[in-house]
Amino acid sequence: MNKSPIGVFDSGIGGLTVLKAIIELMPFEDTVYLGDTARVPYGTKSEATVVRYSLQNAAFLRSFGVKLIVAACNTASAYALGPLQEALDIPVIGVIEPGSAAALSATDSGKIGVIGTEGTISSRAYRDVIKAGNPQAQVSERACPLFVPLVEEGFLSTEATDIIATHYLGEFKDHNIDTLVLGCTHYPLLKETISRVMGKGVRLIDSAEATATEVKRLLVEKNLEKCEDGKATEHRFFVTDSPSRFVSVGRIFFGDHLPAPKQIDISKQDN
Ligand code: DGL
Repeated sequence: MNKSPIGVFDSGIGGLTVLKAIIELMPFEDTVYLGDTARVPYGTKSEATVVRYSLQNAAFLRSFGVKLIVAACNTASAYALGPLQEALDIPVIGVIEPGSAAALSATDSGKIGVIGTEGTISSRAYRDVIKAGNPQAQVSERACPLFVPLVEEGFLSTEATDIIATHYLGEFKDHNIDTLVLGCTHYPLLKETISRVMGKGVRLIDSAEATATEVKRLLVEKNLEKCEDGKATEHRFFVTDSPSRFVSVGRIFFGDHLPAPKQIDISKQDN
């Protein structure tokens, strides 16, 4: 039993998909969320920059005495998981390992597709982890950069979204994949469109759900769970830019009850 909160960070709003999955699966846990909205997107930035930002974000969360940190951003997980685990004295979980493990359990043919930001795809992090789990697996990858702005505009299931998804995902048909990893915080919101384009034979892997399951497993294993104690749970939200956009766009990810976050100055944070 450990009453400390779980820390979650993302480049901005998208990590709310992971936070939501964590809260749904572990309703008694307190959480602290940091969205680095001043420096989003991470998906187009260099490895060195994403590592530096991620270490600062984690140091901010650590100041709340969190018991575990989740790098909810796929790009941050792809580039910075190793440096984060080295720098911190508490468990750090990324989204790549849980998503890859879920894909390996779901696939029959071993032909797996992965979609993500330019950074995540060029890091080859998903490919490496999937191949480490099953060297025979065939992994095809594709960056889908327009998916993030589409989701943030609320274009979840429109004609324009269908056209762009068909353009991006067409090549997976030639690779005969039976499983597709949604390797970006925003993509679970496009499940309906992606599923329509890929057809019923392709299983979609939601890294957010897989990560929440892994967080729970780890808390149980390390005896760090917080159980029902009769008190209301506390969920705190912080952003590095003005809160207004986080609240309006964040509702697409988290629902209408998303509270207003507090703005912080991350440039003052040492790592
Ligand atoms: N959160 C990012 C990810 O999952 C997407 C947005 C960004 O590029 O920062 O990779």
